[in-house]
Amino acid sequence: MEPLKLGLIGLGTVATGVASVLHKNQQTIVRRIRQTPIIERVYVRSLERENPYNLNLTTNIDEIINHSDIDIVIELIGGIEPALSYIKTALTNGKSVITANKELIAKYGTELLALAEENGVFLRFEAAVAGGIPILKSLREGLAANEIDTVMGIINGTTNYILTEMSSKGSDFALCLKEAQAHGYAEADPTFDIEGIDAAHKLTILASTAFGIPLQFDAVYTEGITQISAEDITIARTEGFAIKHLGIAKKSEQGVELRVHPTLVPLTHPFAQVHGVLNGIFIQGNAVGEQFMSGRGAGSEATASAVIADLIEIAHNQTAQYSAPALGFDSHQLMEAPIIQSSQFESRYYINCQCSAKTDLKALSERLAEMASETLRSAFKIKIYDENHSVIILTAKTIEENVEKLMNNAMLNEGVVNTKSIRIEMF
Ligand code: HSE
Repeated sequence: MEPLKLGLIGLGTVATGVASVLHKNQQTIVRRIRQTPIIERVYVRSLERENPYNLNLTTNIDEIINHSDIDIVIELIGGIEPALSYIKTALTNGKSVITANKELIAKYGTELLALAEENGVFLRFEAAVAGGIPILKSLREGLAANEIDTVMGIINGTTNYILTEMSSKGSDFALCLKEAQAHGYAEADPTFDIEGIDAAHKLTILASTAFGIPLQFDAVYTEGITQISAEDITIARTEGFAIKHLGIAKKSEQGVELRVHPTLVPLTHPFAQVHGVLNGIFIQGNAVGEQFMSGRGAGSEATASAVIADLIEIAHNQTAQYSAPALGFDSHQLMEAPIIQSSQFESRYYINCQCSAKTDLKALSERLAEMASETLRSAFKIKIYDENHSVIILTAKTIEENVEKLMNNAMLNEGVVNTKSIRIEMF
């Protein structure tokens, strides 16, 4: 059989991983698809660069997206433009495309999938979510019999690395971020990681694949981790929780919640055991029950593993009568669902009222208990942390408005210098 000719756009960490894995696992891959995948050409901006696999480099993008030699285009440059134009041209020219570009799929996925369908080719993006964890394929195929009502995940390795280091070594936030950048985990613009934007891109894709709804990045409520202190992590641990940055998608009769924020999770839940740059994903299906997957969410060969799985799927699809659509549903089967506004999200909360050193914490906690019983009107726990000069309130399920009211009232008390809240997720 003819070789399967690949055109790569970009030669960074993931592209190098693709070359490496194709090389070291070639025999198995060929056995699976009965074709030999060959990296025919790689588009780079400059030829003056390292080329450890001695690949055929070009600075002319047309030699990839407009050339009859290339069967499948693999886009690994990230960002919106020029990646969007390159992918559109490749699809229009009848080439299937694989990308790891979460921002692009979260924002333009619907349009690009329609373009792929029109041209009878495939667009796949397993590597865009949770690196090497095959979560999209699991949702659209392995779990296809289920109504999925919850998908949540630690889906950003950089923030998980930072929170893990802060928790285990008490390290400073800025230092941990620098280390994550040095390891190559962080995005080109690390605010995408620490402000939750990267996780929101991934959650958009996860939710559409799980629920069969259109991709809608703008509907995701997003908070980052910059407000989390080592002190919060220590107090949470004393209360039996770890602090993790979660992407959460829930579906109910009322609609769909799409949110990304720091979350207290019980120390006994598998999320609490997902350390460092690892990712973890929890799924609840109405036939299968609860599932948990964890693994490397970033890195060269782990992400390449997902890219090459897409390659193998496309190679199979090209000879199949039917293939599962990228989101598990054809575009005309995607159904709109009402998006629940963040003011209506119900959650338990951790509230930290930070005080000046001389505050009478006992008297304050009594006043706060009174306020909390008025505002929350249901069970909550209140506790003094003398050495942190803090009074901690753990609430029952409530809406954000009640928490804000309580925090504003708490600020009116002498000695209270700051209040902050973090949501709690119970399982
Ligand atoms: N910056 C991303 C992360 C890379 O830290 O998870 C993988 O998508």
